[in-house]
Amino acid sequence: MPESASKFLFLLSSTRRQGNSEQLAQAAAQHLPAGTEQQWLQLIDYPLPDFVDLRHDGAYPPPEGNSHFLREATLQATDLVLVAPLYWYTLPVPAKQYLDYWSAWMRATDVAFREQMQGKTFWAVVASSGDRADAQPLEDTLKLCAQYMRMHWGGFLFGNGSRPGDIQQDALALEQARQFFSEAEIVK
Ligand SMILES: Cc1cc2nc3c(=O)[nH]c(=O)nc-3n(C[C@H](O)[C@H](O)[C@H](O)COP(=O)(O)O)c2cc1C
Repeated sequence: MPESASKFLFLLSSTRRQGNSEQLAQAAAQHLPAGTEQQWLQLIDYPLPDFVDLRHDGAYPPPEGNSHFLREATLQATDLVLVAPLYWYTLPVPAKQYLDYWSAWMRATDVAFREQMQGKTFWAVVASSGDRADAQPLEDTLKLCAQYMRMHWGGFLFGNGSRPGDIQQDALALEQARQFFSEAEIVK
């Protein structure tokens, strides 16, 4: 069970609001211990300029605007929950763009981003209209990202739905949502 000092950041990365992934994350969050600090952000409300690889062109400037806001929110969290629809067997653009920015944040000189990410827990909540097996490559990808950042891997909650609200008919996903945050795959 998460410690009382936990701060959960839910990053909603669908390109629509109140979709299946968001509803599944809400179902899981209802079972967090009472009083667990939570922040919910829709990535489409914090658009980032197209990511450009500047690794070999000198230092990245300190992040500004939405990039700065998202980096600070990320660093303040103990637990990061990436909430995503499956798009073409992988992440939707807002989530991918956010993760690509980690590469810049790791190299900006004002904050030791990678060091501060170490030890946080990374969770994923994913909805798709297909089979769970189709989301396995995405689970593997996110686990590797966690490993690279020396984060703990919390787990991957999957639910099925196409139209917004379909997720409410996925009894297995809703059952798994009840336990999701209390059964981290790797104990802190
Ligand atoms: C661009 C796009 C790509 C999609 N790709 C897949 C896919 O590869 N596999 C799948 O099962 N569903 C796919 N879907 C369906 C969504 O994953 C599904 O509707 C999901 O419930 C959307 O989640 P949301 O309501 O949180 O946005 C895709 C939908 C869109 C719009």
